Amino acid sequence: MTAKQILASDTAHPEITIGGWVRTRRDSKQFSFLEINDGSCLANVQVIADSGIPGYDAVPQLTTGASVEITGKLVESPGKNQKWELHAASLKLLGTADDSYPLQKKGHGAEFLRTIPHLRSRTNLFGAVFRVRSKISFAVHQFFQERGFHHVHTPIITTSDCEGAGEMFRITAGEEEFFGAPAYLTVSGQLEGETLACGLGSIYTFGPTFRAENSHTTRHASEFWMVEPEVAFADLEADMTLAEDNVHYLIDYALEHCAEDLAFFNKFLDKSLIERLTKLSKTPFQRVTYTEAVDILLKSGKKFDYPVEWGTNLQSEHERFLTEEHFKTPVTVYNYPKKIKPFYMRQNDDCFDGSDRPTVAAMDLLVPGIGELIGGSQREERGEILDEALRAHDLDPEAYKGYTDLRRYGTVPHAGYGLGFERMLMFLTGVSNIRDVLPYPRTPA
Ligand code: 4AD
Repeated sequence: MTAKQILASDTAHPEITIGGWVRTRRDSKQFSFLEINDGSCLANVQVIADSGIPGYDAVPQLTTGASVEITGKLVESPGKNQKWELHAASLKLLGTADDSYPLQKKGHGAEFLRTIPHLRSRTNLFGAVFRVRSKISFAVHQFFQERGFHHVHTPIITTSDCEGAGEMFRITAGEEEFFGAPAYLTVSGQLEGETLACGLGSIYTFGPTFRAENSHTTRHASEFWMVEPEVAFADLEADMTLAEDNVHYLIDYALEHCAEDLAFFNKFLDKSLIERLTKLSKTPFQRVTYTEAVDILLKSGKKFDYPVEWGTNLQSEHERFLTEEHFKTPVTVYNYPKKIKPFYMRQNDDCFDGSDRPTVAAMDLLVPGIGELIGGSQREERGEILDEALRAHDLDPEAYKGYTDLRRYGTVPHAGYGLGFERMLMFLTGVSNIRDVLPYPRTPA
């Protein structure tokens, strides 16, 4: 049985077996007292092993980090911290861990633990983070599957730069051009996602994406996971509603299904985490146009490192001011200046009426503590306008033929977004560095 099953048991058991790693051991003359963790949950199973049981002579080797298999009787515990304890009938040492085991003591800093990614999942913090990661991955699927979305697998090797930002990792196989043309690791599954949505209706991809951007921040990784839904017959309004529902759903899921791990984060990382998530779960998010957001920032009287001016990208400090100080809740900023956004975003009417402030139907959902969690848009479904946008971005419409074909044959309005999965996990756990929600973080040197 796993520790999780054992600790949730309603009844005593005459015989159960658990495998795990020793967290602590105390010996007295007649017996040893062990705490075993198997990763199934945060809590340890407490074991009492009387001297004289088969395997007891291995006890001196059951030091912190050693692996052990124990069979025994599950009985009610007289201790007040746990309901059950295991009275060992036999124990078997599986693997020793000598003095060099790096996790002898509790309380190592995250920075040190990053140097031992192969062992850090054995700590309380990383055990909790990776269990939440697993649960929330499942919740992502459940959210979309409940709504009839199809899960599609978009390619990781690609030839097109979706975001047009030139932040792609090039793939080579020796000197050769393996695919006959330059190939890269994808920065987003969106373009292929769009083609699948324009056939299947509503789809989502959920996979690794790669960015060769040299951003040394606590919120950027070179390899991260993105959740990307794409919906045919949807406009920006529907896209924003889906994004807000998605975030609400994941908050509720975490509160309901990750309670033990969240309580740990609340105690050791962020004392207001559960209160904040509980409040957010019941609060509708705010929406504001980019133009209104710029006005708010200009009128705030705040001194920012980067000046605020209509037509420039919102910097992280601006996003955080909006969501943390002004609205004090997640906020979706929409209708961004055309000139700062990629070619595929749908041009609003102000692009055609001579306005000096043309905008596209883009949206970013910002959350306190993180800034941008989601970026998305309605897509340009009008063929001629898209061709012209490609040319305006110095891209060759011929190279995007499959994509532009969608606009030639049965085009439909459609919209989607990308949710940064690690940023979502940071938001849900209070972990402040993206390196600590990825099992093997890849970041620039
Ligand atoms: O805003 P982005 O760049 O949007 C896209 O890639 C669109 N093609 C998505 C779509 O419409 N289907 O990225 C989406 C999200 C960001 O809001 C952020 O949460 C996350 O992906 N993200 C990163 N997360 C970690 N490290 C990085 N380097 C990230 N870059 C983006």
